[in-house]
Amino acid sequence: MSERLKVAVLISGRGSNLQALLRACTAPGYPAEIVLVLSNRADAAGLAFAHEAGVATAVISHRDFPDRAGFDAAMDAEIRRHGAGLICLAGFMRLIGDTFIEAWRDRMINIHPSLLPSFRGLDTHARALEAGVKLAGCTVHFVRPEVDTGPIIAQAAVPVLPDDTPDTLAARILEQEHVIYPMALRLVAEGRVAIEGDHAVVAAGTTGTALRNPDPA
Ligand code: GRF
Repeated sequence: MSERLKVAVLISGRGSNLQALLRACTAPGYPAEIVLVLSNRADAAGLAFAHEAGVATAVISHRDFPDRAGFDAAMDAEIRRHGAGLICLAGFMRLIGDTFIEAWRDRMINIHPSLLPSFRGLDTHARALEAGVKLAGCTVHFVRPEVDTGPIIAQAAVPVLPDDTPDTLAARILEQEHVIYPMALRLVAEGRVAIEGDHAVVAAGTTGTALRNPDPA
């Protein structure tokens, strides 16, 4: 097998998507490996999943930096130090600056708990219920400077049931997040996702533009 794509996962809390990605990476033939889990909070429960899996962790608190640029630069340096070729945002609750986003353009993906472009931002489940939609879901997409935008790689839809609360709907969607995030990472790592303008196009074979790990410094 050719070299697996090295991935840094950024979290802030629970880490259930991180757990799903870590589990996927243990499957034989999975084309990616997690080399770093970075949290902006020392108390992020998800760090325990990384420890269990023997994956390196780092905590970089935004509070230790006077501005976002300094925080972003420290994260960037740590991610590069581990040789990552792709970043997965998995419940990372800090806004990231445009310089960082452009530096990782087409090499940073995110999972969002709505069917984008509907319900960008926070409180997606409550807002979906308020809007009376009959389908809700989740989206994995490449990250662009505008929050919760970028070429869509994968989505899953679930029904909204009459007696749903934000919590029951969130739980139904989260199950699907754990399915599509590992699937989307596999597609990206296998080089099966081409970016054409605002769209991510998933090909049956490789596109010839597979992401490469950076050369060791
Ligand atoms: C998920 O719902 C994800 O879609 C959103 O933040 C939540 C993170 O959950 N971006 P977890 O930390 O992965 O359990």
